[in-house]
Amino acid sequence: MTQDHSVVHVQVRDRVGIVTIDNPPVNAGSTAVRAGLLSSLEHLAGRDLAGIVILGAGRSFIAGSDISEFGAPLAAPELPQVIAAIEDSPHPVCAAIHGACLGGGFELALGCDLRVAAPGAVLGLPEVTLGMVPGAGGTQRLPRLTGLAEAMELVCSGRRVKAEEALRLKIIDALAESATPEALIAAAEAAITAAPAKRRLRDRPVPPADAGAVEKAEADALKRGKGRPNVAEAIRLVKLSAEESVEEALRIERAAFQTLRLQEEAFALRHLFFAERAATRIDGLTDDPADIARVGIVGGGTMGQGICRAVLAAGLPVTLAERNAEARDAAAEAIGRSLDAAVAKGRLTADAAADRTARLTTTDHLDDLADCDLVIEAVFEDMAVKKELFAALDRILKPGAILATNTSYLDIDEMASVTGRAADVVGLHFFSPADIMKLLEIVRTDSASDRALATSLAFARRLGKQPVVSRVAEGFIGNRIYAAYRRHAEYLVEEGATPMEVDNAATAFGFAMGPFAVGDVSGLDIAWAMRKRQAGTRDPRMRYVDVPDRLCEAGRFGRKTGGGYYDYEGGKTSPSEAAAVIIEKARAAKGISPRRFTAAEIRDRLLGAILNEAALVLDEGVAQRPGDIDVALVHGYGFPRWRGGPLWWASAEPRARIDGMMQAVAGAAGPGYGTGNVNGMLAPLRTERDEIEKRKSGHA
Ligand code: COA
Repeated sequence: MTQDHSVVHVQVRDRVGIVTIDNPPVNAGSTAVRAGLLSSLEHLAGRDLAGIVILGAGRSFIAGSDISEFGAPLAAPELPQVIAAIEDSPHPVCAAIHGACLGGGFELALGCDLRVAAPGAVLGLPEVTLGMVPGAGGTQRLPRLTGLAEAMELVCSGRRVKAEEALRLKIIDALAESATPEALIAAAEAAITAAPAKRRLRDRPVPPADAGAVEKAEADALKRGKGRPNVAEAIRLVKLSAEESVEEALRIERAAFQTLRLQEEAFALRHLFFAERAATRIDGLTDDPADIARVGIVGGGTMGQGICRAVLAAGLPVTLAERNAEARDAAAEAIGRSLDAAVAKGRLTADAAADRTARLTTTDHLDDLADCDLVIEAVFEDMAVKKELFAALDRILKPGAILATNTSYLDIDEMASVTGRAADVVGLHFFSPADIMKLLEIVRTDSASDRALATSLAFARRLGKQPVVSRVAEGFIGNRIYAAYRRHAEYLVEEGATPMEVDNAATAFGFAMGPFAVGDVSGLDIAWAMRKRQAGTRDPRMRYVDVPDRLCEAGRFGRKTGGGYYDYEGGKTSPSEAAAVIIEKARAAKGISPRRFTAAEIRDRLLGAILNEAALVLDEGVAQRPGDIDVALVHGYGFPRWRGGPLWWASAEPRARIDGMMQAVAGAAGPGYGTGNVNGMLAPLRTERDEIEKRKSGHA
């Protein structure tokens, strides 16, 4: 017997009902899926069965509820109704999981009597990372399996666990042999045979908790959650599982979910979810990526080492080249030390570290890079040095090998021009530390082939990075916008704000750190050196703040010298008297009488600077789409994720306010300041918001 609801198929084989969800690409739980599941269960209810197996077709069980449905009134049947039908089914129901089992998909599995999973399957509740809380029993049923502390960690972090760990945590009952439908069904049938009666999680008590462990899980969750209201709500809900009747707790959880999913924060995070995926694409690109079997890295300094660690972590073999034996050995030792440290901290097993070490070859001969499919240079930021290296590598590398530069601002077209393989030259701009930071700017030169770009995008994915594609331009997307932001922060200080007032306004908005604290950490000498190089070509009409130059002249390079914009003594950061004197002198030299700024004024100037530069970046075609800029600023520059990125944030602000912000930044910058079409840039996002408002009220 078979029945087909187009996205859910049901058949009965040997007294087992098999319900297959088939909603490509990832079996997101849409209204049609929920309706199909409900009618499949109704269809099977009256039959004489040993049990029911629910599984997903294709690459996943269920990758969560359809995220695009969360912004509108939810259509019936809702997920709790489907789960209630599973619990009320007279037959034991087993979820047979492979691929992704996330969010609503995981909650559905928790509603089943039994769970089996294929090796490598991932299970988790990412709702908190999307600004919400689980809404279909996740916070109530999970603690009944794992205990309160573990459930709190999983719910509040959104961490995904592999099937093997899920078995240890008692989330699943058994592992399947493999992810084929036959293996999944066989494992589910075996589980049903071993436990033929109903075993509803809601009927089980929450295991007694160790109060200390729960307190620690709560403190960790609050710290990681950076004060976001939905994290506090998730903690409250998990605790409720041990305090309230399950009916009441489920009702409270649903109500919290219904409220949070329609808050600005959840819309912002959904915007980013889709923007992050769009950023991995270049419109019109059809070429397949080339295989990358070995990666070469030239330069074993901080950046080269970080890139090396990132590539090793992705499972690829690396050849790291340095200019002499001493530098080569120093780089190898530093990488070895960082692997040892990771093992000591329990972040890496000794076996995994040994495997990474075995995949690393170091050399002081560029010729040893001949068998690499991709070579990334991370040498000194100097055009002549890079051109000489590119010319040499071009002679050594095999035809078709991709040659990438990690430059953060130099003209890559110029570098490509010295090679005979301009089509294979790209920029891969990593952010430091390169194995930790998610952002990877892929820089598209005028001559880069589709194949080279497709390979770069696939490489980013392999490394687990968030790519954003940029055209060649000074600072590409991220550093260019950040530089405009930093410049305006300096204007503010010159006009009367203190560095701390500026930083506080930025962190109050949600930035991880303020611009001056960031400058002090990175080292003010780096930008100083660049300014000196560019002094001859600077537009003399442009406003120039010389405070950072004066700080550097006084040896105040930032944290590493004990002082920059702030003083650093004994691990303590404090406002600097010496810096204040330098700032006052600089103001006096220009005849500026300092004035006071409100935090709101500072914030608007900083954000205005970001928006204007973003508009220029889009007008010039450096960035492909507005969402890419949001993704870059969130992943590379500490912009608060929960605000959805600067453009998403701005699209909610009244037009008059944005216009006022633009006038203020243009006025502060003075002559020579290029103004971008900010309203044009925000137009598609404002339209999206209008659509959201209509859908929210059910009028779309
Ligand atoms: N709802 C709607 N669409 C979803 C989705 C969801 N829950 N999960 C994935 N998709 C879409 C993606 O937008 C993408 O669509 P596109 O090709 O049009 O851009 C497509 O499915 C494939 O996703 P992608 O992330 O590119 O594939 P992947 O193989 O790298 O990863 C997952 C697959 C499931 C691991 C990943 O998509 C994921 O983590 N999804 C989020 C799951 C989630 O948060 N669910 C809980 C919601 S509360």
